[in-house]
Amino acid sequence: MRSLISQYLSEIDRFTTQSADELEQFRIRYLSKKGLIPALFEDFKNVPPEQRREIGQALNDLKNKAQEKVTLLREQIEAGTSEQKGETDLTLPVDYLQLGSRHPLSIVREEIIRIFARIGFVVAEGPEIEDDWHNFTALNFQPDHPARDMQDTFFIESNPDILLRTHTSSVQIRAMETRKPPLREIYPGRVFRNEAISARAHCIFHQVEGLYVDHDVSFADLKQTLYYFAHEMFGEGTEVRFRPSYFPFTEPSAEMDVTCFVCGGKGCPICKYSGWVEILGCGMVDPSVPENCGINSNEYTGFAFGMGIERITMLKFRIQDIRLFFENDVRFLKQFTGAV
Ligand code: PHE
Repeated sequence: MRSLISQYLSEIDRFTTQSADELEQFRIRYLSKKGLIPALFEDFKNVPPEQRREIGQALNDLKNKAQEKVTLLREQIEAGTSEQKGETDLTLPVDYLQLGSRHPLSIVREEIIRIFARIGFVVAEGPEIEDDWHNFTALNFQPDHPARDMQDTFFIESNPDILLRTHTSSVQIRAMETRKPPLREIYPGRVFRNEAISARAHCIFHQVEGLYVDHDVSFADLKQTLYYFAHEMFGEGTEVRFRPSYFPFTEPSAEMDVTCFVCGGKGCPICKYSGWVEILGCGMVDPSVPENCGINSNEYTGFAFGMGIERITMLKFRIQDIRLFFENDVRFLKQFTGAV
């Protein structure tokens, strides 16, 4: 067996051709069902156990070599035929490989993760295909709750329980169902909504969710954490303000604005002359939510927040149209390397 393997190896090594027919014969000889290599695999049954490891490895290598040879020669033959058709000017400079760059959304997502990592938040993820319980019901969106209207998504007809998640808050539920407090976690991920695509909205976008559940977590902890985040993300001089808001799974709920970092709060088209831009939703975890997950809400309290990565990236880099993130135009994508 060993000598056959090394014989075939050197034959395969030496083989070359420019003819598609010859290549096909080569393939049939070694790799087809009744070819030489499958025959060796057949004989492998009779190899004594102590040699199996070594011979098995050699056999697999042989098969890979043969397959690689076929692929390589096939590519060469195809390239050759197209070259014969067109005119190849061998004096032209070669195409060089362009170095890629990070997508602006990845740059900002990683920056957010780094900022929260410094104060002990760990990253976790959840599925993009969710069920009604994790995306809605466990977060207090009852089946007829009007807040569901704002988060219409994509369902499948055969099973309306399955949907594409509309927010990363579903990961809060998965976390509280599977892990015990203290929880100090952030959840980056892709989310989906049934929205008409425009310069400001897309049916696919990204969020980062944060959840902190422990003994005695207060609104002061929420404010200080997000204040720290705003400073790290947008600069030392940044002010924050909280406006009352509503989410079914937090009570009280708030929206956080930061001073417009384009005009420094004086007023400009970006902040619509208000001096403030809205960047996230947040609130104290409603006690019913941990209860839904089997956590005693008399013992534990928490806060949560969620922000849109596209929104923050657009504000930070002054990008006017959300569709640019999804078009994969390298002239756009390569402008952000080293930007943060
Ligand atoms: N999930 C909310 C949204 O997508 C944001 C949010 C997250 C609000 C966590 C409060 C707490 O609009």
